[in-house]
Amino acid sequence: MKASLLVILCPAKKVQAQFLAEQFSIPIVDGSHLAFAKPREIEGFVRSHVESNHSEPCFVFLLYKQGLALAQVAEDNLLSVRADFSSSTVNYRRQKGGGKGQMIAKAIGLNSTTAPHVYDATAGLGGDSFVLASLGCSVTMTERVPEVNALLADGLRVAHEWGSEKDQSLVAILKRMTLVESDAAEYMQTLEDAEKPEVVYLDPMFPQRTKSAQVKKEMQVFHQLIGTDSDADLLLQIAQESAQKRVVVKRPRIAPFLAGQEPNYILEGKSNRFDVYLSH
Ligand SMILES: C[S@@+](CC[C@H](N)C(=O)[O-])C[C@H]1O[C@@H](n2cnc3c(N)ncnc32)[C@H](O)[C@@H]1O
Repeated sequence: MKASLLVILCPAKKVQAQFLAEQFSIPIVDGSHLAFAKPREIEGFVRSHVESNHSEPCFVFLLYKQGLALAQVAEDNLLSVRADFSSSTVNYRRQKGGGKGQMIAKAIGLNSTTAPHVYDATAGLGGDSFVLASLGCSVTMTERVPEVNALLADGLRVAHEWGSEKDQSLVAILKRMTLVESDAAEYMQTLEDAEKPEVVYLDPMFPQRTKSAQVKKEMQVFHQLIGTDSDADLLLQIAQESAQKRVVVKRPRIAPFLAGQEPNYILEGKSNRFDVYLSH
């Protein structure tokens, strides 16, 4: 499933809109008059421009003043996601969050003296990478779905602009994050020995179990857009050949091990767990 339309909601972003429309070979619809409209009005406008076909969800880019979002136009709602590194909620979480005591920090082997270089092979919207970079790690990310890559690239750019004006500590974090649009397996196979990351982090898509409200809206949109990463077993094998120190796999708590391979140890949370594979 691919994005079929771009709605521009900020007149100042015409150049970016044209660039994206060409990249995705999709038409642009001008919704600049809705720059300050309520979400319901924007939803009505978007609906009036997409073909209604209830059996299949459709995806639309929305280019706001605050950045790029991808919306899934479904029968009864419009779910939208974006990569957010600079809203007040994210700033609050960054400043008051769990620090090095977080499970993800323990899983990658972060401690008071070491902040390893992490390669986040399955970056998505960059949430996990951002946590790790906030804790001092340098992080290289790959994302292979062009729509998701575009959201992530835009989120990083918007946060950089905001941080440059308002918060230099955010800029320092973003400088530790590097995005590469690539398939992870292809990327890892290009690495020379000296370029190999200390830690490879994998968080592939897992089949959705329920449509309940507990499934985060981001995940619902991702499941419709991407489906399942059915090649993730193979990714574990390549990751193990690439990681100098360890591979960390984030899984839903009840999911089987990737490639059926038992990890060296597991850190278990309420809904997720981290499987840690140490390099030999
Ligand atoms: C569950 S999401 C990752 C969420 C991410 N950890 C976060 O915090 O936002 C999985 C992402 O990995 C990407 N992905 C899966 N396999 C990949 C591969 N071989 N190469 C690059 N990206 C991949 C998918 O397109 C999807 O966006």
